[in-house]
Amino acid sequence: GKYRVVSTKPMPGTRWIRLLTDQDCRVEICTEKKTILSVEDILSLIGNKCDGVIGQLTEDWGEVLFSMLRRAGGKAFSNMAVGYNNVVVGAANKYGIAVGNTPGVLTETTAELAASLSLAASRRIVEADQFMRAGLYDGWLPHLFVGNLLKGQTVGVIGAGRIGSAYARMMIEGFKMNLIYYDLYQATRLENFVTAYGEFLKANGEQPVTWKRASSMEDVLREADVISLHPVLDKTTYHLINKERLAIMKKEAILVNASRGPVIDEAALVEHLKQNPMFRVGLDVFEDEPFMKPGLADMKNAVVVPHIASASKWTREGMATLAALNVLGKIKGYPIWSDPNRIESFLDENSVPPA
Ligand code: GLV
Ligand code: GLV
Repeated sequence: GKYRVVSTKPMPGTRWIRLLTDQDCRVEICTEKKTILSVEDILSLIGNKCDGVIGQLTEDWGEVLFSMLRRAGGKAFSNMAVGYNNVVVGAANKYGIAVGNTPGVLTETTAELAASLSLAASRRIVEADQFMRAGLYDGWLPHLFVGNLLKGQTVGVIGAGRIGSAYARMMIEGFKMNLIYYDLYQATRLENFVTAYGEFLKANGEQPVTWKRASSMEDVLREADVISLHPVLDKTTYHLINKERLAIMKKEAILVNASRGPVIDEAALVEHLKQNPMFRVGLDVFEDEPFMKPGLADMKNAVVVPHIASASKWTREGMATLAALNVLGKIKGYPIWSDPNRIESFLDENSVPPA
């Protein structure tokens, strides 16, 4: 191989490796056992010659790594993730390094996990499972693990981009929920879907579903029965859900987060869960991963999973492939921008949301 491409982690499937090796690239996969690599670990991986790197969302890709990558002759970096809050895109651009992410292939998988968390929280699946395994079930009772019915209730989506819209659609179509959403942009396709589906239901003699674009996030928090968070993490969304905003939510609301942990003030959330036993959350992400804030693990009204929203085989192989294509295309200077996923997977400073 003429080019040296480093992946900081082994990734699923072999297609991504073949893509690179078929095109003059030698692929080096880091075999380090520890889960999270430090900047120093990655510096030694980059070494003296490195044309491109595929990295992970747990790594700090900023000034130090990008300047080193430039010195090693690097042209491209791709996060194997759609979120890129771990990447200082401006620093990469300063050193002439293109940055890619992996949108598109994880939309439905991530939305399905958010839907799973919504159902697990509303029907208390994990609590009930633990009860069963503990041998506590001694017969059917009218009040055993009573939860929330979703049908006819309102689903609230904060951040109605690709993932938020896919999630909304699942909840609307699957459970006939009404929609309220908040986003800086209008989710026209989602609105059109709800309108058409509402008309279909009406034509069949059923209660139609409705949609509403909220003019403030507070309106969503006040009105929705299930709220799922799908914003990008940046300065404007850090602790978007705080003590004050939790306080305006319904006492029996369900809150789901499969975006980024710091979007929620997790300590405030733990306190809120303690004060409001009927309020339930489904969390895929945490403020200080891999840790949970003190007390969260003890809360029965919380369902917690370890950042697995994009973890389907198809999606993870797709993410690896897309990340490899990002790096390969830039190294070889291919005009590969015909695939819409790849068009936006090359980021520049302008694609970073305003801070
Ligand atoms: C996962 O969290 C991602 O951003 O892809
Ligand atoms: C519950 O199992 C019922 O039959 O209502």
